[in-house]
Amino acid sequence: MNFAAELSRHVSRVETGLNLHLPAADTRPARLHAAMRYAVEGGGKRLRPVLTLAAAELFGVTDDAALPAAVAIECLHTYSLVHDDLPCMDDDDLRRGRATTHRAFDEATALLAGDALLTHAFALLATAYTDRPALAHALIAELAEAAGSRRLIGGQMEDLQAEQKSDATADELEFIHLNKTAAMIEAALVMGGLIGGANEDALGSLRLAGRDLGLTFQIVDDILDATADTATLGKTAGKDAKAGKTTYVKLHGLAAAREFAAAHTHRAVAALESLPGDTAFLVALTRELVARGK
Ligand code: IPE
Ligand code: IPE
Ligand code: MG
Ligand code: MG
Ligand code: MG
Repeated sequence: MNFAAELSRHVSRVETGLNLHLPAADTRPARLHAAMRYAVEGGGKRLRPVLTLAAAELFGVTDDAALPAAVAIECLHTYSLVHDDLPCMDDDDLRRGRATTHRAFDEATALLAGDALLTHAFALLATAYTDRPALAHALIAELAEAAGSRRLIGGQMEDLQAEQKSDATADELEFIHLNKTAAMIEAALVMGGLIGGANEDALGSLRLAGRDLGLTFQIVDDILDATADTATLGKTAGKDAKAGKTTYVKLHGLAAAREFAAAHTHRAVAALESLPGDTAFLVALTRELVARGK
């Protein structure tokens, strides 16, 4: 398996899918649709949609059946970034190497573009799988749970609350990471499995892998915020310490954060390797993600 070639094959399918499944930029109101496309088209690693496509492939899905779900996941993730960057949240000027949506447009437009991307994600799932109603239902339920108040939004809430505290605990930090980040990574893998008809055991392994991959991913995001430069990240470095965020780096230090990331990677790889099919790409991607924080 050539990892770089496989990754770029998946990413280019995602880019094509995004272009196909998002309303055209000149759709009325053009300002709103231009902002939606601006946020989505600004690059980004496309990790979550790639996980969906790769997980579906494990179960023999070689056509484009997983593409609308992959696009839906990326729309939802992008909405969460647009809102995360707003002045009332993390107040960031730079995202994916360019001005954040509220800087390029204005705050109200960014808020509405985020709302619209969130809604569009569910519209896509509801319309793309009408020939498989049980699947459409399962995908919608999975994404709604991952993106809802108990998970992504709940994690974002506690992330903001933890800024005000000087005594946040490891338990609170784990809640934040499991929900603001791991929930969507878990859902990305599980949705791929659902499209491939994975059984309960396999869905359970995908969920476990997503949990540990998600924890690794957010620990590495925190490490990079503290150690990498703005040009490399495409978003402002050093923001977490300035904002007083509760992160692994703040709570445990850099060396321990790297050890946590390695331990979670190990568990993610074990869960992936218990799955049927050729897991080489997903395992390599997992190792690649932790290597970013070295
Ligand atoms: C950023 O996600 C938000 C986190 C959960 C850390 P990504 O690092 O996947 O951002 P993009 O999609 O590549 O821009
Ligand atoms: C954001 O976490 C997670 C979500 C957007 C749900 P961060 O606030 O750490 O993400 P970045 O560092 O701004 O990408
Ligand atoms: Mg944030
Ligand atoms: Mg942020
Ligand atoms: Mg961050």
